[in-house]
Amino acid sequence: MSTNYRIVVLLSGSGTTLQSMIDTELPANICAVISNKPNAMGLARAEEASIPTHLLDHTLYSSREAFDFDLQGLIDQYQADLVVLAGFMRILSDGFVNHYSGRLINIHPSLLPNYKGMHTHQRVMDEGEPLHGSSVHFVNSELDGGPVVLQARLPVLPSDTVESLELRIKTKEHLIYPTAITWLAEGRIELKDNEVYMDGKKMTGPVVMDYM
Ligand code: GAR
Repeated sequence: MSTNYRIVVLLSGSGTTLQSMIDTELPANICAVISNKPNAMGLARAEEASIPTHLLDHTLYSSREAFDFDLQGLIDQYQADLVVLAGFMRILSDGFVNHYSGRLINIHPSLLPNYKGMHTHQRVMDEGEPLHGSSVHFVNSELDGGPVVLQARLPVLPSDTVESLELRIKTKEHLIYPTAITWLAEGRIELKDNEVYMDGKKMTGPVVMDYM
């Protein structure tokens, strides 16, 4: 679908998250996909969907700030209303995050603010948590920080392995991320003074969708 709401997707890996956006009738136009990794499968998925792609190899830059400066320049060529991190495995500099304040979102595989960082599925299992999930959040300059908009929550099953848990979480991510992007594109969700508003009302916490 082609609308006036323009999104740019950043990724580093397999791109199943991007695929869920391509496969959903978003009220938005995915204008470009940018990867920092040359072999990211996500680039091939974008090409298959006739979305312009760019590779910006971070290993060719001597500083985070220099890479983020060029990344920002590239994104801004597309006049993005929203920048969507979809498995983009890089820490972003303060300047970059501030530039896109209120228009930069991420999905992180945990029930934030719990389990920021890497290897969330393993850590959740090691701790014997009864529940796990994934969170869509506005990005601020803290690692996996920023106000949470929407969460998928599901029980950790006795039969789960790290792999099965990851797969179950990803399936739900592919539902909630397009949903959150739709809400943003429709203007239903906004960030003001670091608070999330939905339909004009300040949210006291994220919308939580419970799954089995
Ligand atoms: C997703 O599970 C996403 O939650 C996670 O990376 C995966 C990307 O999958 N993101 C983070 O861990 C961010 N801290 P994909 O490459 O198949 O889209």
